[in-house]
Amino acid sequence: MTIRAVVKGVGHYLPERVVPNSYFEEIVDTSNDWIVSRSGIERRHFAAEGQTTSDLATRAAQAALDSAGLTGADVDAIILATSTADLTFPSAATMVQANLGNTKGYAFDVQAVCAGFVFALANANALIVSGQARRVLVIGAETFSRILDFTDRSTCVLFGDGAGAVLLEAQEGTGDNTDRGILSTDLNSDGTYRDILYVDGGVSTQSTGVLKMAGKEVFRHAVEKLAQTAHHALEKVGLKDDAVDWVVPHQANIRIIQSTAKKLGVGMDRVVVTVQDHGNTSAASIPLALSVGVERGQIKQGDLIVTEAIGGGLAWGSVVLRW
Ligand code: UT7
Repeated sequence: MTIRAVVKGVGHYLPERVVPNSYFEEIVDTSNDWIVSRSGIERRHFAAEGQTTSDLATRAAQAALDSAGLTGADVDAIILATSTADLTFPSAATMVQANLGNTKGYAFDVQAVCAGFVFALANANALIVSGQARRVLVIGAETFSRILDFTDRSTCVLFGDGAGAVLLEAQEGTGDNTDRGILSTDLNSDGTYRDILYVDGGVSTQSTGVLKMAGKEVFRHAVEKLAQTAHHALEKVGLKDDAVDWVVPHQANIRIIQSTAKKLGVGMDRVVVTVQDHGNTSAASIPLALSVGVERGQIKQGDLIVTEAIGGGLAWGSVVLRW
C-alpha cells in the first residue's frame, strides 16, 4: 500500500488594491511598455495598510478548506511558505492556526523565498507519507510590497502581494504514476549565489531591509535550472514531457515561463499564466496559479501537473502531482 498526499481543496486571496503599471510611471523612470515587454506584468495587488501576511494566508487557507468541505479543526498540520512573516516570531503559520480555530495540530513556516511553496509541498508530502499527519494545509503567502525599494525601478515594478493554499489529504494509492497526489519532488539550493537576490536587512542586522536583485543573473539561472529540476522530478516517477497536462510555474517573468515551457516541450496552451495580473508574489505565486487555473476550468481532476520555482538562495525545485 502506498500513501499519497492528494489535493482535496484549493483557494486563494488577493488584496483589494490593484496597482497598475502606470503607478510606477509616476514614481520612477519607467514605462508600461518596458514592464510589459521585459516581464509580462500588467498589474499586481498590494496589501492595505495594516494587512499582514497571516491575514492574507488565513483568507486563502479558509478558501481551500471551504472547497474541501472541511474546517480548521480538521487539519493536522499547517505549513506556511513565506519570506515576509508578520513578526520575527511566532511563525505566521501559528497565527493562521489560531485564526482558523485549530488548537490540536502543529504549524510552522518554511522560508525558501520564491521556491517556498515547492519546498512546503515537499515537506507536507513527507509528513503525510510518513504518517505524521493525515491532512496538511500548505499555504504560500507574501507581502513583498513591504520590502520593496520604491526608488529602484529594476525591482519595485516586479513584485506583488497575495496568498494561495492547498489542502492535502492522505489517500491510498497503487504506487504507480497513475495515482492521484504528489508523485515526486526535487529540491535544490546553492548558497554561494546569495548576493544575486537578497534582502539587505534582517533580525540579526537590526533592520528590515529592502529587496536587491541582479535581474539578469537570476534570469540566466532560472532559464537553466527550472527545466532541469522539472525534468529530474518527472524522471524520478518515470514520466516524460508528453505526459504533462499543465505546467504551473513560479510567476516571475513571462519570458522565463515561455523559455522553460519550450525546454520542457510543452506548448504555452498547457501553461497556467497569471503573471500579468499578480506580478511576482514569491512563495504565493504557484498556489495562486493553481487556484486560478482551477477557477478558469484549466486544471481538472486527474491532470498531471508540474510545478517549478526558483528564488533567493538560490533555492529551486519542482513537484510533480496528479490533481
Ligand atoms: O522570483 C525570483 C526570481 N526572479 C526572477 O526570476 C527575475 C529574473 N529577472 C528578470 O525577470 C529580468 O532580468 C528583469 C525583468 C528583472 C529585467 O529584464 P532584463 O531584460 O534582464 O533587463 P536588464 O536588467 O538587462 O535591463 C535592461 C535595461 C537597463 O538599461 P541599460 O543598462 O541597458 O541602459 C536597465 O537600466 O532596462 C533598464 N531598466 C528599466 N527601464 C525601464 C531596468 N528596470 C527598468 C524599468 N523601466 N523598470
